[in-house]
Amino acid sequence: MSHRFIIPLSYNAIETDVLSKLLHQYTNRHHDDLIHDFEKRLREMTGSPYVVALSSGTSAIHLGLQALGVGSGDFVIVSTFTYVATVNPILYLGAIPVFVDSEATTWNMDPGLLEQAIDGCIRQHKKPKAIIVVHTYGMPADMTKILAIAKYFNVPVLEDAAEAIGSTWNNRSVGTVGRVGIFSFNNNKIITTFGGGALLTDVREIYENTLHWATQSRENLPYYEHAELGYNYRIGPINAAVGLTQLDMLKEEISKRRSIFEGYQKLLPELTWQLEPSGGISNHWIIAGILRSDPEKARKKLEENRIETRRLWKPMHLQPFYAHYKSFINGTSERLFEKGLCLPSGGQLSDTQVESISVIINRNPKRFN
Ligand SMILES: Cc1ncc(COP(=O)(O)O)c(C=O)c1O
Repeated sequence: MSHRFIIPLSYNAIETDVLSKLLHQYTNRHHDDLIHDFEKRLREMTGSPYVVALSSGTSAIHLGLQALGVGSGDFVIVSTFTYVATVNPILYLGAIPVFVDSEATTWNMDPGLLEQAIDGCIRQHKKPKAIIVVHTYGMPADMTKILAIAKYFNVPVLEDAAEAIGSTWNNRSVGTVGRVGIFSFNNNKIITTFGGGALLTDVREIYENTLHWATQSRENLPYYEHAELGYNYRIGPINAAVGLTQLDMLKEEISKRRSIFEGYQKLLPELTWQLEPSGGISNHWIIAGILRSDPEKARKKLEENRIETRRLWKPMHLQPFYAHYKSFINGTSERLFEKGLCLPSGGQLSDTQVESISVIINRNPKRFN
């Protein structure tokens, strides 16, 4: 646990006993079995026929885009309201991001603006090569509308479900809805491997290519042969072992976070929250609200009480590094950045702690103006 904060934003305890018990089961077995078993569990849990466990969510996006044929000079449409790791891999491949703003309900990609963005690319005589849809803070995007548009224009969808393992859309795991999906298992995610990610797909060729590229593109020969560029992107066996122990806790963690969310909703009626789209259920990885007042003042006040909160994403189209790319904007992501605050959301949070946090936010709201 962070020393600075008594109440962290989201925290995963190291269950050393559970981990050591699991590792004992693999004594004298090949360590790759841990990775294969982790992938098997992810396949069973998500229903995805193919899963590759990787070193990070970022590497999964990188290889996922490459598998969709994204290359130099291609347009990739992407949510502007996200963490920078969604977007950087577009540039790794020499492609060009086109940013799309959020809808006010889910805070995810606005389907109307997506359509405009695709039109904009086509008018430049270049149909986008892919759409990256982010399920922000675990909230599923409106996949019904987004998939209909993607299908109409015949552009593949990569779901950045880095934050959304366990969330569903029409009873399907997010990450299995687009042609490619990715998860992150970094330290603060709802399920951690202390660094890791996964790529999910139902296309065998994408699976085989991803696995190949992630292991230095080494050919299946008795000597070292490489016919194309490769990466060292495979997950480590100990990380996979941690993942195996964490997956057992996912359901319980989601139900705890859901009830924490309900607690905040009751105690903070003035805040506006992310709303689930029709057919979507969130894992509530991070519970965030829009304040009527300045979130920075609330954040500082909570920090004085050693409670960790964070501002919402600063949209990519406002980032110094990305501001010059084309964007389709409606003001939502800018408002989320200006007024939003991510609240402590970890499953270990007690009712009393939720109350204390809410009291601090509610107290003298004028002081936060
Ligand atoms: C939306 C989003 N995309 C991608 C990533 C990248 O995942 P990783 O940190 O595992 O590379 C993260 C998390 O960091 C994320 O929150």
